Amino acid sequence: MASFNPTDPDFLENPYPLYAELRSDAPIFFYEPWDKWVLTRHEDISALLRDRRLGRVMENVKVRTNPEHAAFDDVQDGSLLELEPPDHTRIRTAVQDVFTPRHVRALEGKIAALCDRLAVSLAAKPERRGDLLTEFAEPIPVTVIAELLGVSVAERHRLVPWSGAIIGMFEPERTEEMEAAAVRAAREFAAYVRKLIQAKRRAPQDDLISRMVGLHDADPERLSEAEIVANAILFLDAGHEAVVNVVGNGMVALLSQPEVWRALKAHPEHLETAVEEALRFDTPLQFFERVVREDLSYKGFSWPKGTRLCLFYASGNRDEAVFRDPDTFDPTRSPNPHLSFGLGLHYCIGAPLARLELKHAFNALITHLPDLRLEVDVVYEPKNVFRYPKRVPVTF
Ligand code: HEM
Repeated sequence: MASFNPTDPDFLENPYPLYAELRSDAPIFFYEPWDKWVLTRHEDISALLRDRRLGRVMENVKVRTNPEHAAFDDVQDGSLLELEPPDHTRIRTAVQDVFTPRHVRALEGKIAALCDRLAVSLAAKPERRGDLLTEFAEPIPVTVIAELLGVSVAERHRLVPWSGAIIGMFEPERTEEMEAAAVRAAREFAAYVRKLIQAKRRAPQDDLISRMVGLHDADPERLSEAEIVANAILFLDAGHEAVVNVVGNGMVALLSQPEVWRALKAHPEHLETAVEEALRFDTPLQFFERVVREDLSYKGFSWPKGTRLCLFYASGNRDEAVFRDPDTFDPTRSPNPHLSFGLGLHYCIGAPLARLELKHAFNALITHLPDLRLEVDVVYEPKNVFRYPKRVPVTF
């Protein structure tokens, strides 16, 4: 059987060959160092994501062993991503319509203008080189989500470092430094959101935090203040990191195959399918966990309540049983039933917004920087959950 070693530098640089071996030889196996089961086939992942006997609430599972992480746990506890019905339904219903395709389409003009502005200013650099991640991709989602939530322009620079530190806690191979940084960021971020709540209460505006504060003030049972804090932080983190990573991973894939990049420039009508392919091909969030909520038998495996499963969406996205030529980036691929936004109850609420941002990001690059080339080979951050290159140095 192929051996799974999540700290192997070759695996971290390119996990896809090992995923292929696992799908074939050991699609479901127990990985002792994490005390979790690993699942790698599309069929299993999609079936289990829809199975209500699995959930995200860590009932009866001792995961929170370190009291020093309390500040971090506090901001996780009320977050949509960590809740099950009825609390999950109550909160998701309260915020859902802000994220519908119809509502986010109202932002389209602003998103397109932002992407164009960033691409034009990169293209104007006299040295004709730069880093696509920091100089182009990063400002897009943070600007959009900050605007949606109602964070002022002057304050936006504080969000990226907090968000970067917080996501470190989701890495299974994290260090103590990463944990301490995540706890510190959660504490500071929560204090900041609490102040924002007071400001919005005094002077409400047309934004998501004002709306959540209005719901709370009308009926504190509808949404607690702790839930507003937890979800504002979730929206900022979730709304930002993965979008940057898809622009980075997608552009590395496109620029590594100049004929595909040329074809997309010649056929911008394929942008929407190209975005789906970028999401599939090099998945920004490689896996998510679920916990067994009631004893479960699945394909001959018996999982008692409390068993933890890692569902490798990134492997499901390369499953040859579902995708023809899965290791080929095909910007016209359709249908494309990738798992990058998850499935079922926790399906990404921000998917319509992310799709819009990604479409305009790629469009701005093909329009204003058509001669983009990768300057050097790209090196990936050695992480298991979040996959993205350290930098994407380009010339143009
Ligand atoms: C390319 C960008 C994005 C990707 C790949 C992505 C991916 C995901 C995935 C895989 C999940 C489900 C996690 C699970 O199965 O446990 C999720 C949930 C979520 N995402 Fe996204 N996301 C993206 C952008 C966004 C944006 C722009 C927002 C905006 C606020 C957002 C907000 C959320 C929230 C709040 C949840 C939790 C939903 C729930 O539990 O009901 N995401 N996302």
